[in-house]
Amino acid sequence: MKKRRLGSSGISVNPIGLGAMPLSTVNRPTSQQAIHLICEALDAGIDFIDTADVYCLDDNDIGHNERLIAKAFKAWQGSTPVTVATKGGLVRPNGDWVDNGHPDHLKAACEASLIALDTETIDLYHFHEPDKKVPFEESMGALIDLKNAGKIRNLGLSNATLEQIIQARKMVDIVSVQDRCSPFDLDYFRNGIIDYCEQQNIAFLAYSPVGGGNGKVRTENSHPLNKVAQAFDATPYQIALAWLLGKSPVMIPIPGASRVENAISSADAMSIKLSDDDMLYLNQAFGVAKT
Ligand SMILES: NC(=O)c1ccc[n+]([C@@H]2O[C@H](COP(=O)([O-])OP(=O)(O)OC[C@H]3O[C@@H](n4cnc5c(N)ncnc54)[C@H](OP(=O)(O)O)[C@@H]3O)[C@@H](O)[C@H]2O)c1
Repeated sequence: MKKRRLGSSGISVNPIGLGAMPLSTVNRPTSQQAIHLICEALDAGIDFIDTADVYCLDDNDIGHNERLIAKAFKAWQGSTPVTVATKGGLVRPNGDWVDNGHPDHLKAACEASLIALDTETIDLYHFHEPDKKVPFEESMGALIDLKNAGKIRNLGLSNATLEQIIQARKMVDIVSVQDRCSPFDLDYFRNGIIDYCEQQNIAFLAYSPVGGGNGKVRTENSHPLNKVAQAFDATPYQIALAWLLGKSPVMIPIPGASRVENAISSADAMSIKLSDDDMLYLNQAFGVAKT
């Protein structure tokens, strides 16, 4: 399986990553089960993990997911390099998800992530979501300061508009963009962001790639995905991931899982190569023409 580049970072990773969020949010597994899942995913070929300081229950639990990852790395017997991407820019009062792009918050959040991940430098740090209450360039300025201080190696943006991505790139190199994208969430194929990432060599990290915690039932029930899955002796989830991989050379889906078998199944989808006919069939079924 051919690795994909994280933009201009010089880092290449296997084409499917692990989204670690379901290990730390509501209905999460025990810490022991979560650490086991991460180790199993790494054994299955995952070498890129997506996390965030706010993958937790609420503001009293910030860093839960990052701490799990740090513990899993200590427990894991393997030796392949693993890239970790975390995020800052949200808070969790009473379990809500609230933007906070204030420079002071971003700086404190990054310091806390360094401790939680037990590292001196974060491989890739995403601004989780531009905050309408804070000028975008002020938030970016704080992230650039963190990069210049050596606390962050590479910067990415999540949930940003194309205009914000272009604005940020005038200030600093952006290696990745992270947005919701699945056969049922197709906006980024249509709003120019995936095209722009391809043109500018920016990795596009597809979050909730099988539809998200509530939307995954659509993948399970999708007739076109099940039809192609039968021919590959695969699951509709795996075909959704393989289809995303076939859509763009900069695409890196980051499926989440709280069950080990699902994490391994997603990792195994890296080896599925859909034919041109399969791609055409699924493109037509989902209404996105571009291959
Ligand atoms: N930047 C952002 O704003 C943002 C927002 C949301 C998510 N994310 C990131 O994106 C990652 C993925 O998104 P997500 O977790 O919301 O949704 P998802 O990847 O679409 O997955 C949702 C659920 O589908 C099930 N699933 C996944 N792969 C499967 C497979 N191969 N076979 C069967 N079931 C499978 C898992 O269920 P089980 O839990 O039962 O195993 C998983 O929890 C997150 O973990 C997080 O890292 C980022």
